Amino acid sequence: MSNANTRIERDDRVAVVTIDRPKALNALNPDTLAELADHAAALAADREVRAVVITGSGDKAFVAGADIAAMENMSATEARRFARLGQATFRALEELPQPVIAAVNGFALGGGLELALACDMIFASTAARFGQPEINLGILPGFGGTQRLPRRIGIARARQMIYSGDMIDAAEAERIGLVNQLAEPADLLAQSREFASKLATKAPIALAHAKAAINAGSDLDLENACRYESEVFGLTFATEDRRAGMRAFLEKRKAEFSGT
Ligand code: CAA
Repeated sequence: MSNANTRIERDDRVAVVTIDRPKALNALNPDTLAELADHAAALAADREVRAVVITGSGDKAFVAGADIAAMENMSATEARRFARLGQATFRALEELPQPVIAAVNGFALGGGLELALACDMIFASTAARFGQPEINLGILPGFGGTQRLPRRIGIARARQMIYSGDMIDAAEAERIGLVNQLAEPADLLAQSREFASKLATKAPIALAHAKAAINAGSDLDLENACRYESEVFGLTFATEDRRAGMRAFLEKRKAEFSGT
């Protein structure tokens, strides 16, 4: 499936979503966000897809932020609506049952970093750069950055990035735990797909519950978060996959998971 600003391709059980506006460094305008929301809805319903990679086209940018030209003449009301559209789109991606890897192939700035933060993990090219430069435009992050960045890298470092607008390079991003894994630029997509393919062999219902427990838990107190964990732990015992997984272990062979 292809739209004007994005592409989605399936390779076996892995889907790759590409933001494809290289002339604007893949900046997110309302149409691009709407296409991403459509892809999220389609992926959520697609039981054949077991893992997702999100990347940007070209070799310069993952996503250089929300589209500044599209924002220039927005009223306060329109800007609030735009922020809610971006937030809802990223929330839909964050809540996909499949694991999502952001393959950050260049600049991940503003809304681009916010998109990467809505993914489960970030793989980055050694040439990638990360930042929340909104302060230099007289605005602030509007697609969840003030909330997800401190949750991901800690409040002190998030304040530093959001208040200064300074960029950090890929090595620094890995050092502070923003990036899971670095790759040479030419290898990034292959490495991201390879890891996604590995995740695609795991029991998808258990993985979706683990993802939901991690996501829900970051907004709950420990007691309720652990209670949630025990509920979904129990639910996995109703799956064919857990029977297949435990039987395979006891018979000393590798399990095949059907996703039931
Ligand atoms: N929106 C719209 N267009 C953008 C863009 C953006 N966020 N980022 C880059 N572009 C466009 C440029 O206008 C330029 O277009 P033209 O060729 O038509 O002039 C093209 O992409 C290439 O960009 P540059 O010439 O600027 O490339 P560079 O190599 O000199 O610099 C860069 C690269 C440092 C990423 C620089 O483009 C830049 O600073 N971009 C803006 C980054 C930014 O401020 N992002 C935050 C946006 S606000 C936001 O995201 C709010 C939110 O949270 C919701």
